[in-house]
Amino acid sequence: MMIPTQSERPRVLDIFDAAKEDARPVYIAAPMVRYTKLPFRLLLRSYATDILYTPMMLAHEFVRSSFARDSDFTTHPDERLPTMSPSGKSRKHALIAQFAASSPDDFARAAELISPWVDGVDLNCGCPQSWAIHEGIGCALMASPESVAEMVRAAKARLPRSKSVSVKIRIHPDLNETIRWLEIVQASDVDYITVHGRLRSQRSSTPPDFAAIRKLRAHIRVPMIANGDVYTLASPSAPLSSSQPPSVKSVRQIAELTQADGVMSARGLLENPALFAGFEATPVECVQRFLGYAVKCPIPYPLVLHHVGEMTQFMEGRIRMGKEERKQLMACADLLELLDFVDVKWGLGEKVVLDGNSDE
Ligand SMILES: Cc1cc2nc3c(=O)[nH]c(=O)nc-3n(C[C@H](O)[C@H](O)[C@H](O)COP(=O)(O)O)c2cc1C
Repeated sequence: MMIPTQSERPRVLDIFDAAKEDARPVYIAAPMVRYTKLPFRLLLRSYATDILYTPMMLAHEFVRSSFARDSDFTTHPDERLPTMSPSGKSRKHALIAQFAASSPDDFARAAELISPWVDGVDLNCGCPQSWAIHEGIGCALMASPESVAEMVRAAKARLPRSKSVSVKIRIHPDLNETIRWLEIVQASDVDYITVHGRLRSQRSSTPPDFAAIRKLRAHIRVPMIANGDVYTLASPSAPLSSSQPPSVKSVRQIAELTQADGVMSARGLLENPALFAGFEATPVECVQRFLGYAVKCPIPYPLVLHHVGEMTQFMEGRIRMGKEERKQLMACADLLELLDFVDVKWGLGEKVVLDGNSDE
C-alpha cells in the first residue's frame, strides 16, 4: 500500500497533527457573517488562532457574479503563512472559505473558484435563520444528509487533494438523528466536522450541550471540532464579562469534556481577539494592531468601529474605559477620528500601525 505524501491529503490536517504533538486542541475562529473579514482574520492569526474561516458566502451568488466574489472575499499573501510564537516556535495557519449551498454544482464550482486562495471549503449546515431554511440552505440541510454527502463529493472531485471539504452542523433534538446524519455524510469522505452544540431552535444564550458533542465523538471518524461558548483559554478566575454565561468553560475543559480535536470560538473572539494566545481580556496592543490591519486592508468604517467597540468592552484594570469615554469612542465619525482617539488614549503603537506584520 502506498503511504500518501503530505500534498496528497488536505494541508489543514497537518495543523491537527501539530496541535496533537503539542498536546493541545486546534484553535479555530468561527465563520461570522460581516465580521471574519480580512483585517480581523489577520489579527486573530497574529494571536495564535490556527484555523480561520471566512464569513458564510452564498455559493450560488459567488459562482454567478464576479461582483459578489470581489465584495465577499479578499485575502492577503500573509494570511496563510506561518507565524512565530514568542517562544520561537513556528505555527502554521489555514484559511477555510465557508459557503451556503443547496446544489452540488454550485458548491463544487464555488469551491473550485476560491480554491487557489484557501486551504479548504466548509458547508454551512447550521444557519438557523428562516430565510436560509426557506432557501434550502443552512439548517435545512440537517434534514437531508444525502444531499450534503452529494455536495461534499462534488466539491472533493473538483479540488486538489491538498484542500479540505468540511461541514459545520448543529445537533438534532433527537441525537440519534444526528448520528444517522453523520453516518451518511461521512461516507462522502468529508475531511473534518464541526459540531455547534445547540439545536436549530436554540439561541446563543442557551448553554451548548457538551455532553451531546461527546456522544457524537464516538460516531465521528474524522477530526471533530467543538463549538459553543468558548471565552477563555485557561479556566477563568471569575466570569470576565456580563455577556459571558456563568457556566463558561475553558478551551481545555471543552476539549476534555467533548474529546474534540479542535475548539472553535465566535463571540468570545469578537470581545477578546487575543483569547487563544492566553490573554484573559483584550490587551491594548491588540486594538493598536487591529487598527494597523484595518488601515492596510480597508473594510467599511462602521465595521472597524464595531470591532473596536466589541474588543474594548471588557478590558481589564486601568485601561478599561469609563462610560463617558466609551461614548466618545463610539461617536468617532470616521477612521481618522478613531485613530486620533486611540492615539490620545493609548498611543498608536507606531510600529504596529506602520508594519502590520509584527506578528507574535
Ligand atoms: C455575528 C455572528 C455571525 C455568524 N455567522 C456565521 C456564519 O457565517 N456561518 C456559520 O456557520 N455560523 C455563523 N455564526 C455562528 C458561529 O459560527 C457559532 O457557531 C456560534 O456563534 C456559536 O459559537 P459561540 O458560542 O462561540 O458564539 C455566527 C455567529 C455570530 C455571533
